[in-house]
Amino acid sequence: MYDIRRAFCLLFLIFSLDKVDLLENGLARTPPMGWMSWGYYMCGVKCEDGEDKCLNEQLVLSVADSFYKDGYQEAGFEYIIIDDCWSEKHRDRNGRLVADRKRFPRGMKFIADYIHARGLKFGMYTNVANITCMRYPGSLSHMELDAKTFAEWGVDYLKVDGCFVSENILNEAYIKLGKYLKKTGRPMVYSCSWPYYIQYIHQQQPDYEEIARYCNLWRNYHDVQTSWDAVANIVRHYRSHYYELAPVHGPGHWNDPDMLIFGTGVLTHSQCRVQLTVFVMMSAPLLLSCDMKKITPYEKSLLQNLDLMAIAQDPLGIMAEPHHVTDCTLWIKPHLPRKGDQFPSYSLAVMNLDSDASHVSFRLNTYNLNATDGYTILDVFSGKFIRNVTYDDKIEVTVPGFDVILYTLYPL
Ligand SMILES: *[C@@H]1O[C@H](CO)[C@@H](O)[C@H](O)[C@H]1NC(C)=O
Ligand SMILES: *[C@@H]1O[C@H](CO)[C@@H](O)[C@H](O)[C@H]1NC(C)=O
Ligand SMILES: *[C@@H]1O[C@H](CO)[C@@H](O)[C@H](O)[C@H]1NC(C)=O
Repeated sequence: MYDIRRAFCLLFLIFSLDKVDLLENGLARTPPMGWMSWGYYMCGVKCEDGEDKCLNEQLVLSVADSFYKDGYQEAGFEYIIIDDCWSEKHRDRNGRLVADRKRFPRGMKFIADYIHARGLKFGMYTNVANITCMRYPGSLSHMELDAKTFAEWGVDYLKVDGCFVSENILNEAYIKLGKYLKKTGRPMVYSCSWPYYIQYIHQQQPDYEEIARYCNLWRNYHDVQTSWDAVANIVRHYRSHYYELAPVHGPGHWNDPDMLIFGTGVLTHSQCRVQLTVFVMMSAPLLLSCDMKKITPYEKSLLQNLDLMAIAQDPLGIMAEPHHVTDCTLWIKPHLPRKGDQFPSYSLAVMNLDSDASHVSFRLNTYNLNATDGYTILDVFSGKFIRNVTYDDKIEVTVPGFDVILYTLYPL
């Protein structure tokens, strides 16, 4: 009897969701991790010998090989996503998108199969206008056909840009395209650039609750550039918009601060720690964009630090709250495991965006870390348990310039 009731409940839930065309595709329960071509390769269509930034089949397969062989897959890296500039300039006679014949000679289905054979997932890109941002064919008047094409190719993730259309079209097209993706029956993570265009191109306030109903993740802010300043601006943006963004952030629907710039040679070790820590503490998507061979051994050790990745992929998916302490930001994120019903674990990141070192001290109970038997502290970067504390103890740290200290506190 109980089971039957439960089954009816579930059916009711499924039908009532279906009626309003909500996304609820069951995907991205934790923020997606992987690689995406744009950040480094951009519109890399020049593939003559020796060209550094060439977006082609060989590049995409090399990422799959690296994920599979170099330990990234075990650390959680999964999606391999081709961004803009992958297609021919014209659709075929039947109106279908066609992969660039020179750079992707075996087509996209071949790439999807290669990626899937290694237990990884495949992502692609389109735009809600008639053209993409780089003026390749876009999906506005071909939504149903393109959704079907992506599904037939075996796409698992679709990034959808919002160049060149009005606010009204953005607000309608993202919902409509999501409906066609769902109609294919193939599960595809739906990544929208919707709020970015609403806010920065049309100067309007995005309706985040609405966006979170239709998209698995969405870009809020400018594209990351390969520089520390760009990273620091992104960090400041999410710090100052926390109260607006945190309520809509969680399993199945994520704010997206854009890609990590690891493997591009521009970040120092400590700056790498800052970018990755803030993204991890936010429960943000972790998408690399580089030649996998250029990732340094130190960067690789961070990306494959399983204590760090466990915070990033925590099932609660709570965005860390920023607090101002002395000249630093203290990011606090509750996560699993929980002791009883009451006391979650916490990760605490003390981040310094200035060039001068900063001395910081605070008490745990100021921030409601009040587990009755105290906590044991893991220093995430050294991998060492350093100390046991009570909720009344003072934590004191000195954070060097452009650096971060990251502790995970498990309730005792
Ligand atoms: C997109 O293309 C269709 C078909 O050619 C056309 O009717 C429509 O006006 C175009 N829309 C925009 C926003 O350019
Ligand atoms: C600990 O903090 C939480 C969150 O503020 C609060 O709900 C709880 O009552 C506190 N517990 C104790 C024992 O102070
Ligand atoms: C913290 O407490 C636990 C449980 O009492 C103990 O096993 C552990 O050794 C302590 N750790 C440190 C760093 O003192």
